[in-house]
Amino acid sequence: MTIRSIIRSVGGSVPGKPVTNHDLVTRGIDTSDEWIRERTGIGARHIAPPEVLTSDLAIAAAQIALLRAGISADEIDLIILATTTPDLTFPATAVRVQAALGCLPGIPAFDIQAVCSGFVYALATADAYLKAGLAHRALVIGAETLTRLLNWEDRSTCVLFGDGAGAVVLEAWPEEAAGKRGIISAHLHADGTHIDRLKTDGGVSTNQKAGFLTMDGKEVYRHAVNKLAEVVEETLQNQNIKSDALDWLVPHQANARIIEHTAKKLGMPMEKVILTIEKHGNTSAASIPLALYEGVETGRIKSGHLCLLEAMGGGFTWGSVLVRM
Ligand code: UT7
Repeated sequence: MTIRSIIRSVGGSVPGKPVTNHDLVTRGIDTSDEWIRERTGIGARHIAPPEVLTSDLAIAAAQIALLRAGISADEIDLIILATTTPDLTFPATAVRVQAALGCLPGIPAFDIQAVCSGFVYALATADAYLKAGLAHRALVIGAETLTRLLNWEDRSTCVLFGDGAGAVVLEAWPEEAAGKRGIISAHLHADGTHIDRLKTDGGVSTNQKAGFLTMDGKEVYRHAVNKLAEVVEETLQNQNIKSDALDWLVPHQANARIIEHTAKKLGMPMEKVILTIEKHGNTSAASIPLALYEGVETGRIKSGHLCLLEAMGGGFTWGSVLVRM
């Protein structure tokens, strides 16, 4: 029996009130609303207070996804959580989510680390599990408290990122029942020769610290534009479709200019792009599921719509998932 992985539902969560660009200036950061908006499209971000952990955001997003799917936590048989900011070095944040949600003990639950491409990697992995018959109903989560990695003295990075989580319930359906719905293809890539361009300056094995985020912004930008153009082309060619077949581009939200460039390459008007960067900033692995949640909740993304999800991040890693909702 051929299996299709269907996105049954989407959930999302961001902590507290938005912190605007003006708020950052008030907090003493040498920046301006004008600079941040012009260069990135970011207007605000959410910053989790110290007592709110990545798992709390993941749990909140997952609860919404479960509610929307109308299923209970004990019907989940796989949890994959993408994060760069786990609660603890170990165990995986996914197991805390498993216990807190009341999922069955014994189901597999693990984290994936692919930075901003994390959700695309997690979704592709869950899809492979379902298609291999290893699981039937998965929670796939992207969750971050990325602001914990920020050096607030470095204005070139600290204004860019935010915290949040998004989640989907992914369910295995026989192809006949799925019709055209489900994950159609996934394309994952990495190139470790660029490891130093976007990284933390610490790590467990290196210096027993989490470290702070550092980025060569211009080089990351240049590669993002190129690699994303390549991977969206690869996706279309793989399915032998043209970009006008797409209903929505649901991109990782790192920079509005990068997103506009990808949309232009595809010949897609910005009306067909889900943009959340203005209010969320870059939430790393959480940004795509949060954008998907926004698209679904606002009634723009409907059942049957063809969506192209794409991301690029530290590593470098990049990738895409083509899915019919
Ligand atoms: O999610 C992972 C993927 N990440 C990305 O895709 C991010 C890719 N990179 C970028 O989006 C852009 O490189 C940035 C938005 C991060 C930076 O834009 P940029 O045009 O590359 O700016 P820059 O770093 O070259 O800085 C230009 C100027 C500098 O001043 P001078 O030397 O020209 O006088 C910076 O000091 O802007 C200054 N600057 C700022 N000014 C006000 C840097 N950060 C700020 C700031 N506020 N926050």
